[in-house]
Parts: sequence; C-alpha cells; structure tokens
Amino acid sequence: MTKTFFITGTDTDSGKTTVTAALMQAARSLSLKVLGLKPVASGCELRDNVLINTDVSSIHGNSSFDVPYEKLSCYKFPPAIAPHIAAAESGVNIDTSVFTRRADGLVSEFHPDVFFIEGAGGWYLPLSDCTFMSDWVAARGLPVIITVGARLGFLNHAVLTRNEIMRAGCRVAGYVVNHADPHMERFDENIAWLKNYFKDIPLLGEIPHVQKAELNNLGKYIDSKILTEIL
Ligand SMILES: Nc1ncnc2c1ncn2[C@@H]1O[C@H](COP(=O)(O)OP(=O)(O)OP(=O)(O)O)[C@@H](O)[C@H]1O
Ligand SMILES: [Mg+2]
Repeated sequence: MTKTFFITGTDTDSGKTTVTAALMQAARSLSLKVLGLKPVASGCELRDNVLINTDVSSIHGNSSFDVPYEKLSCYKFPPAIAPHIAAAESGVNIDTSVFTRRADGLVSEFHPDVFFIEGAGGWYLPLSDCTFMSDWVAARGLPVIITVGARLGFLNHAVLTRNEIMRAGCRVAGYVVNHADPHMERFDENIAWLKNYFKDIPLLGEIPHVQKAELNNLGKYIDSKILTEIL
C-alpha cells in the first residue's frame, strides 16, 4: 500500500525540493521504494526537445524507479513565474483531474512504498483566478509535510501554513526545518520557539545550509524513526 504525502513550504524557495530530496533519500536508505511527482513546474529550459526543470530532475534522480522524465510532472512552463500567469499566457487551463490521473497512474504502475508530491510556491498556490493547488490536496485528503524555510519572518509563515492546512481538513503529518538563509540572525532562538509551538507535530528533521555537493547526501538529516512512524 503506497503512502502518499504532499510537500508544501512556508514560501517559494523555502526548500521544498531540498526537503523532498532528503525524504526520498532517507526513505530509500530504509529500503523503501520511493517515487515523486511535481504536478506544476515553472522555470524550465529546453534541452533535446524536453523541458527540463530542476525540481523534476531532482525527483527523477532520487526515485527508486526508472520513470520517463515526462511522467514526473503534469504541467511545465518555461518562464520562472507564477504558474497561473504562465498558464494564462500560454493559453493553458491547469486541470487538477490531470494531477489525479497522473498520481494514480504512477502509483498503480510502480507501486512505490512512499510517494512524495511536491507543491509549488506555498500552500495557497493559485492555479486560476479562484482555485488553489491546496483545493486539490484537500479534495484528495493527502497528509501534508511542511518545509519550514528558516529566514526572517518564517514563524508567521509557518503558523499560517499549519493553520490553513488544518482548516482545509488535512493532517499535518510532520515538518522539516530547512536552514534556507545561512545569514539568518537568532536562528536557534527562532527554531526553539517553533519547536515548542509545533510540539504536537512530528519534527522529521533539520537540514543545515549545505554545499551543492551535499544535495545527494541529505537523507542523514531526516530522523528515520520519526519517518517510519508517520508511514
Ligand atoms: N539547506 C539548504 N542549503 C543550501 N542551499 C539550499 C538549502 N535549502 C535550499 N537551498 C537552495 O535554495 C534554493 C531554493 O531551494 P528549493 O529549490 O529547495 O526551494 P523550493 O521551495 O523547492 O522552491 P520552489 O518554490 O521553486 O519549488 C535552491 O537553489 C536550493 O539549492
Ligand atoms: Mg521546488
């Protein structure tokens, strides 16, 4: 039985891709078969007739399965702008039933133990004038993992994100602290406040600010015992 999680973040660039990679690597080191999906990706480069996106590439590289690249996203837009604007500019209607078919299709084809779906932006990522990606997450009843990108102002974003996930009727399965800004002042004091306020939510790990070379070795920052508990 596949366990699916939606990975959201306190903001765009909070570290969702970094955290998704860490979770996939940690799950693989527990001998679990992992797969991921990035339903909407903006910011792509055309290479050999394929739109390449770094988030999709990270998921592709960290998957246990040899999945065709094109299957790991539903909508890709070349400009690195808000997806609803990129979609409108290219005359595309983002249809969440495509997310559902792709997610279900991947699960029934590969039967992963764990399936991570990376959001885009933050919890309220607009897909059109009046719909959000979180509407789809809530309709699917997916448990959500919050990437807390530690930078000035993140406590407000973290609390709002948790509250809105719960208000949508979703379970907050856990959170990961990501040291997004290496220059953040009073990092430890802010994290201490968060850990106390989020004491009822499983803390899956803390990722320090790392060098690029370490991006393939992030699994060690995830607490495998806590990860196993939420599976
Ligand atoms: N812990 C970290 N150490 C070093 N660099 C990091 C860390 N976390 C994030 N970064 C860098 O910050 C940038 C944004 O991180 P990431 O792509 O994981 O965020 P995101 O939330 O997935 O962004 P998006 O909203 O575009 O999907 C990337 O260049 C990433 O390599
Ligand atoms: Mg990302």
